[in-house]
Amino acid sequence: MTTYLVTGGAGFIGSNFVLYMLEKYDDIRIVNVDVLTYAANLENLKSVEDDPRYIFVHADICDFAAMEKTFHTYQPDVVVNFAAESHVDRSIADPEIFAHTNVMGTLALLNCARNAWHQGDDDYGTHKFLQVSTDEVYGSLPLDDPEAFFREDTPLCPHSPYSASKASADFFVKAYGDTYKLPINITRCSNNYGPYQFPEKLIPLMIHNAVHHEPLPVYGDGLNVRDWLYVADHCKAIDLVINQGKLGEVYNVGGHNERHNIEIVQTIIRECSRILDDPLINDSLICYVQDRKGHDRRYGIAPDKIKADLGWYPETPFETGIVQTIQWYLDHQEWIEHVTSGAYKEYYQAFYGNKLETER
Ligand code: NAD
Ligand code: TYD
Repeated sequence: MTTYLVTGGAGFIGSNFVLYMLEKYDDIRIVNVDVLTYAANLENLKSVEDDPRYIFVHADICDFAAMEKTFHTYQPDVVVNFAAESHVDRSIADPEIFAHTNVMGTLALLNCARNAWHQGDDDYGTHKFLQVSTDEVYGSLPLDDPEAFFREDTPLCPHSPYSASKASADFFVKAYGDTYKLPINITRCSNNYGPYQFPEKLIPLMIHNAVHHEPLPVYGDGLNVRDWLYVADHCKAIDLVINQGKLGEVYNVGGHNERHNIEIVQTIIRECSRILDDPLINDSLICYVQDRKGHDRRYGIAPDKIKADLGWYPETPFETGIVQTIQWYLDHQEWIEHVTSGAYKEYYQAFYGNKLETER
């Protein structure tokens, strides 16, 4: 039986991954370590909370003693590190927590893995540490060169405090591989979308606002480009890298699906209006607001390496994935209500209130 220590398993991608793995494999155990920030929701994992193969540990990855105890108690074979502060806008407002969680938390986990797995002479048995990173560490691509893509050997050039913290963590993971021969992989994925994403990110925020006939705040000219990846395809990629990825390697995981932000917003308007048969959901809800500081223009991945080496490709066409995603949010209004109650309203008002007011 393989024991996976999944960190941040109550967040968006982490909870999709926990559910995916428990569905796919019988003979595994998942230990989910999560401190439960605003972005976490244990309801995502309700269907597995009584599964004997699933264990929840309420702890902070930065707490070395708690992590050491967790390693000692559960003896994980594999670490999959999702836990992070993940929202660029919040990193611009408050960079420090990003350095703390994303860098120091990763370092604490690396040290625990090294201590627990080392069997002498660079031998760590069959263990693996997988760092879930982001294409944002590569920086930004120009809009006028659509053939330019991020590749695994593209130099890291992060711009936001979020991507700087993720790049820093990547360097530590690589350093532990290079220096101590810790068995590592790094995956760098593009923007994920799908069920259980906190509505501070573009797609769930726009769905939530559209359904409530609230303004849809589009930053700048709306022409920034993101490469959208369906979360289930991402989970498959991580599983493949854990089981077949060559030690020490980085794998980019992209959706081959680049869209301007405004196109995403218009698709959401069209599909929400169609599904709900609601003509009040229309383009008049779009509200161009002040641009994000240092806003990366374009992200784009050529996922050639993971395709050639592991046979992975993004299976879900965007047209299918986005409709499934919208339908999921419409079918889970109670989930949305739960995560947007309390602190979310304050965040939303503090962050968007002024911007939307200025536009009026
Ligand atoms: P998320 O914000 O939805 O979830 C993060 C989870 O980590 C939450 O459950 C939170 O409680 C937990 N967490 C935060 N700090 C912690 C700490 N100190 N100790 C333990 N748990 C802690 O994030 P997500 O969108 O699911 O992203 C998961 C990972 O994937 C992150 O590392 C992120 O950088 C990376 N990533 C995400 C995307 C995306 O589109 N969402 C794209 C590229 C990379
Ligand atoms: P986001 O979902 O925050 O992901 P990231 O910044 O990590 O790529 O944003 C995706 C894109 O959408 C990004 O270019 C910023 C833009 N955006 C808006 O235009 N309005 C919004 O309200 C949000 C949250 C994002």
